[in-house]
Amino acid sequence: MLTHGPIQSALRHEGGLTRRLFLAQAAAIAALPAFAAARPGPVGRPAFDTDPFRLGVASGDPSEDGMVLWTRLCPRPLEPDHGMPQEAVAVRWEIAENESMSRGVRRGTTLATPQLAHSVHVEVTGLRPGRTYWYRFHAGGATSPVGRTRTLPPRESLPAKLRFAFASCQHLEHGHFTAYRHMAAQDPDFVVHLGDYIYEGPGKEGQVRRHTGPEKGRLQTLRDYRIRHSQYRSDPDLQAMHARCPWWVTWDDHEFDNNYANTVPDNKDTDPATFLIRRAAAYQAYYEAMPLRSSCIPAGPDLRLYRGMAFGRLAEFQILDTRQYRTDQPNGDGPKPLNAAALDPANSLLGREQRNWLDSRLIASQGRWNVIAQQVMMGMVARVPKADGAERTYSMDQWPGAAHERMALARFWQDRRVPNPVVLTGDIHSNWVNDLRVDDRIGDSPVVATEFVGTSISSGGKGSLAEAELGKLQAENPCVRFFSRERGYVLCTVTPEQWRSDYLAAEDVTQPNGPVVLRRSFVVESGKAGAIKA
Ligand SMILES: [Fe+2]
Repeated sequence: MLTHGPIQSALRHEGGLTRRLFLAQAAAIAALPAFAAARPGPVGRPAFDTDPFRLGVASGDPSEDGMVLWTRLCPRPLEPDHGMPQEAVAVRWEIAENESMSRGVRRGTTLATPQLAHSVHVEVTGLRPGRTYWYRFHAGGATSPVGRTRTLPPRESLPAKLRFAFASCQHLEHGHFTAYRHMAAQDPDFVVHLGDYIYEGPGKEGQVRRHTGPEKGRLQTLRDYRIRHSQYRSDPDLQAMHARCPWWVTWDDHEFDNNYANTVPDNKDTDPATFLIRRAAAYQAYYEAMPLRSSCIPAGPDLRLYRGMAFGRLAEFQILDTRQYRTDQPNGDGPKPLNAAALDPANSLLGREQRNWLDSRLIASQGRWNVIAQQVMMGMVARVPKADGAERTYSMDQWPGAAHERMALARFWQDRRVPNPVVLTGDIHSNWVNDLRVDDRIGDSPVVATEFVGTSISSGGKGSLAEAELGKLQAENPCVRFFSRERGYVLCTVTPEQWRSDYLAAEDVTQPNGPVVLRRSFVVESGKAGAIKA
């Protein structure tokens, strides 16, 4: 069933690893024997005493003729075995042209195995482009809710309009996922999630909600990560949004470990083998929880998540992974000046393979708009100095920590005349609109791209507009057009002539069912980089 084994993957990578890391990687693979031997055993026919579809349904990574349909049999989301037997279970799926499921177009049976936490990832093909479909699953006498999904428009077409939402950073303890309820009512074509889908920290007292799992320290084992994903996906607003339209997901750091960089942990005392075993567990639980294609099945501690897609010739999306292949943050992480260590050409957030892939995708792109969906802020924004005359500092965990690569990317877009580059970003729990230049410190150089940074769904709790802070940031940084510390998401409406980003603000996520309001809108005209307040 697996197209490439983790052992082969480890051997393939051996040339590029130190012997110490190779041994750590081998240890990580050996720690997951169940997954390495993922072969269906006897097929069980459990009669469920409680609904096995409590995590709902989802779809993702649509193509012109299909998509991934996802569910996971999980009658008891917060229990160690999730209420499931240690055997494979047959799951029937069906997809239809109408919500009542009477005009079925494809159906089949697949196996939900204990090795993959009884998750199901069905890759449907043979559908018509640019069409809405409905789907559901059946197992052990139970039937799932009906989900809605959509194929991409024909590759050679120029669609008149695309409407999609992007979101990130949904700390369950900090607030309610109110933004998703509002988003569902907007009926976007798809959702792009830029990471921090879960948070790996322990449960804390006195918050809006509380994490299940370890009382102290971060998640460690596959079981820990699975329960955390189950807890998050039990949220009704999040679940309903997954059932509403397909998602494109990528991760940031908290799906695994705060501010990690490739094989380098946040806590530098961690043993490398232990760290990679943990990474394998976190990545596997992520794959199990998300509507991802089989190309994303992890191989030990590796999972290739970066990928691209085209919405006809209107927009091409490159969805990046700036965590798995990056070099360690320079200057010991934290806010530091753009010194020689930050400008070192050896620093990279993408790694060579992903960078080459990105460049070649952009050269071949037929998209009127070229979207780079990624994690950390690309605008080289100097923070407000704590004292007058203090040195300007930048975040070393964001693109300024790989300033050489960051400037080379922007120069590439400019030199190769990549049409209308638009960067989408998450990570920092605040809204930003940035006009990107090759070097953002040089205010009178041409703007080459526009960056829309979306705030968190809930991380950080109740936010604020922070207008005084915006003024100070703009005094230091020619690129900053907008900033706020509210919660929410961004809704984008794209036509051949214009890009529009609507910043939706959830005013108080610490209260259930709070209001969501349109705070600001910015547009970019095709052929003219830079955001204009609408
Ligand atoms: Fe976050």
